[in-house]
Amino acid sequence: MRVVKISSSGERFAGKVALVTGAAGGIGFATARAFALEGAKVMLADRDTARVQAAAQSIRDEGAEAAAVTVDVADFASCQAMVAQTVASFGGLHIAFNNAGIPSGIGGAFEDFTVENWQRLINVNLSGVFYCMKAEVPAMKACGGGAIVNTGSICSLIATAGQASYITAKHGVAGLTKAAALDLVGAGIRVNAVAPGFFNTPMLAPALEIPEVRADITSKIPLGRVGNPEEVARAVLFLASDEASYMIGALVSVDGGVVIQR
Ligand code: NAI
Repeated sequence: MRVVKISSSGERFAGKVALVTGAAGGIGFATARAFALEGAKVMLADRDTARVQAAAQSIRDEGAEAAAVTVDVADFASCQAMVAQTVASFGGLHIAFNNAGIPSGIGGAFEDFTVENWQRLINVNLSGVFYCMKAEVPAMKACGGGAIVNTGSICSLIATAGQASYITAKHGVAGLTKAAALDLVGAGIRVNAVAPGFFNTPMLAPALEIPEVRADITSKIPLGRVGNPEEVARAVLFLASDEASYMIGALVSVDGGVVIQR
């Protein structure tokens, strides 16, 4: 697992419990690690049991506090069990990063989309965020409030051909983030989202290994390079922190300028 040094401000999240989904690798792992290095107790959740256990162990090996739980975010009962496990392990829940997601894997003509692809993408990438939030909110309320950050995408803001199910799910995450931000403001729970561009994670790695595809992707990024997962983590930590106390329902682009150029 590639690890980039994150400068730690010490104990920004001391006393906080953070839950991160899709934490076995990529953006989720980088963010879980960043929370832990800044003092949070972190529950890493993923459907890949072996990888998420190893990810939590690697954070403990750095001297920070972390545990792992297996979850399928497309299953509400599984999300409830994930939250129950988090509260049982660490005594509460203050921060949630709902990040688990899958790529569309299509890229062809509209007629090539199968109903199965549509349902799977919506179930994991959109309903999965709702199921997590629905499970998390009672635990956060019991702690007197908290902060939720969801993972959108540049695909929450713009469309690309051949990605209808992914684009629809990620636009839905943006809408859900805004709606929930209003619904939960009275409970002291701030809800925001990040909108990553192109990041070097297991999800994008196969595409980046093809030189022409990497060149095409890079040509779309005004900053001239693909991002590192730690660069999303910093934005997530900001949104989850008291420094973002006046932000609700925001979709924060972390994309090297992809969207503004469009
Ligand atoms: P990744 O593939 O490294 O991480 C996604 C994780 O989610 C994996 O560990 C996977 O096992 C887990 N997961 C998938 N389905 C799940 C399920 N049903 N229940 C629980 N866990 C599940 O990918 P990456 O890039 O770190 O993606 C994280 C999020 O960022 C996703 O929501 C993705 O759509 C989003 N994103 C990624 C971008 C990129 O360039 N890598 C760009 C924009 C958004």
